[in-house]
Amino acid sequence: MYPDVAEVAQSVDSTSSIIEARDVTKRYAASSGEVVALDGVSFDVRDGEFISLVGPSGCGKSTLLKILAGLLPYSGGTIKRSGAPLKGPGSDVGMVFQTPVLLPWRTIIENVLLPTEFRRLNSDSYLQRARDLLALVGLAGFENRYPHELSGGMQQRASIVRALVQDPPILLMDEPFGALDAMTREQMNVELLRIWNQNRKTVVFVTHSIAESVFLADRVFVMTARPGQIAEVIDIDLPRPRELSMINTEHFGRYATRIRALLHSKGDLS
Ligand SMILES: Nc1ncnc2c1ncn2[C@@H]1O[C@H](COP(=O)(O)OP(=O)(O)OP(=O)(O)O)[C@@H](O)[C@H]1O
Ligand SMILES: [Mg+2]
Repeated sequence: MYPDVAEVAQSVDSTSSIIEARDVTKRYAASSGEVVALDGVSFDVRDGEFISLVGPSGCGKSTLLKILAGLLPYSGGTIKRSGAPLKGPGSDVGMVFQTPVLLPWRTIIENVLLPTEFRRLNSDSYLQRARDLLALVGLAGFENRYPHELSGGMQQRASIVRALVQDPPILLMDEPFGALDAMTREQMNVELLRIWNQNRKTVVFVTHSIAESVFLADRVFVMTARPGQIAEVIDIDLPRPRELSMINTEHFGRYATRIRALLHSKGDLS
């Protein structure tokens, strides 16, 4: 089930950063005045790494992810993505938003193929990949349905497929499994790690679940309450492949306790 794990682990180049953020700030102009969402955020993400990002509600996680995706301008600092200064969305990145944002007038398969249309790629050649990925997330047979005919969790799974269809090297995921029931969520975690292992993507994954953050990541970035900063980076030294049974081990529990304590000391935990 987990081919070439050792090979994949070795191939993660510890010296090359695929994302480099230095002193990033973001200020929103709001009706009640200026909101400082991010203040001096600096970090590196290495090629092939899995990063979990946790922090109190409103600390700027979605803001940071949209900035990294090139969808939102930032107010200060510098960001490099894939070695070049960040200029915009780009085909090196796929994004899963906090809500599915599917177009209601398009079928599931048409929604999933949308990014390939935007980039004027030949959608036909991506059709089989889209079908395979939909089957992988349990949506075989729903290709020609419309979003309103699917549950919230199913729509979110479709939006994950949309991000994966172009096989981007960087995947930015904003609480992608928040709407799923506990069992499906666990399955999706295992499935995501399998895809990550096979394709060696770089993933930045926002979650409110401490257990999920530890289970998935090489490193967990813990943010402070707004204005958001990276308060601490925790290396998760658990063996791969990860198995769900690890969640009950003392080693896993120590990481979870540490992150929980940090979140409580950095702001309210939601
Ligand atoms: N378009 C906007 N205009 C003004 N303020 C905004 C805008 N978008 C976000 N904010 C503010 O910026 C801060 C960070 O918001 P963001 O959505 O990034 O938080 P978050 O960490 O993703 O929260 P959650 O965990 O609840 O999803 C919040 O205080 C929010 O109110
Ligand atoms: Mg958010």
